[in-house]
Amino acid sequence: MKAAGPKQDQHTHMLEIPEVTLAPGACDSDLLIAEHFLLKVATTPLPETWQLLRHGGRMTLQAPADAGGYQLELNLTEGPMARRVRTARRTDSLPRAIGMHRRRVERIIDATAGLGRDAMVLSALGCAVTAIERVPALCFLLQVAVEESAANIDVVRGDAVEWLRAHAEGPDPAAVVYLDPMFSDPKKAQVKKEMQACRALAGPPTDTSALLAAARAAARDRVVVKRHPQHPPLADDVSFEVRGDRVRFDVYLTSGAS
Ligand SMILES: C[S@@+](CC[C@H](N)C(=O)[O-])C[C@H]1O[C@@H](n2cnc3c(N)ncnc32)[C@H](O)[C@@H]1O
Repeated sequence: MKAAGPKQDQHTHMLEIPEVTLAPGACDSDLLIAEHFLLKVATTPLPETWQLLRHGGRMTLQAPADAGGYQLELNLTEGPMARRVRTARRTDSLPRAIGMHRRRVERIIDATAGLGRDAMVLSALGCAVTAIERVPALCFLLQVAVEESAANIDVVRGDAVEWLRAHAEGPDPAAVVYLDPMFSDPKKAQVKKEMQACRALAGPPTDTSALLAAARAAARDRVVVKRHPQHPPLADDVSFEVRGDRVRFDVYLTSGAS
């Protein structure tokens, strides 16, 4: 995990992301992670706010009482996410879009990590993943899951556009930058609670043109963008696309691509 500076705190404040506190009852490693990502630790339960709390030994994110008080957890040892990680294949649509069915891809930047579900799959398939996320509470949940599962994921709290720009000229660029900046259709009745929570916490939509431009400048071989199958690409010059069950991956080859 990488430290965030005061600049990122200011940025988070500017984005008006709702505050999430770590509830009493957290273990020592939770407290260290909270300190690292600059999350506040509450001394009494605050059911009217978003909270991170240990529930039956598992770390959960709890919505405020007036939003239903629902809980979600990032469980990588059992349940659907664990199954997805366990059964991932290099020929699945995301790894194929990344090029993993043809060659070994050492390092990927997942610039919009969210709950890190895609990052977990890529790590399980052998990539080192740098996962950038601007919402501190999501960084926290992901870091807890990374430590529980020993996944090869470095969680970085911050704005991806700034991070990618700062790393564009580095000596050892990542082969691939992966972007999944969008949420599923908010009008859909059955938007999953993971997405409801991410949407509530993520603040305003990101500037996808700036994100794509920064990703293209930073990636050695390609940028892969997850899109809804009915939505247009972020830019006209897609090199090729890979269709999955419910999503499309647009691939932009960059000048270093072989
Ligand atoms: C649709 S979610 C990603 C879901 C993720 N692929 C997964 O598998 O869980 C998009 C995430 O990108 C983050 N995000 C959007 N723009 C960002 C930016 N400029 N910098 C960092 N994170 C960003 C949002 O906070 C949100 O958590």
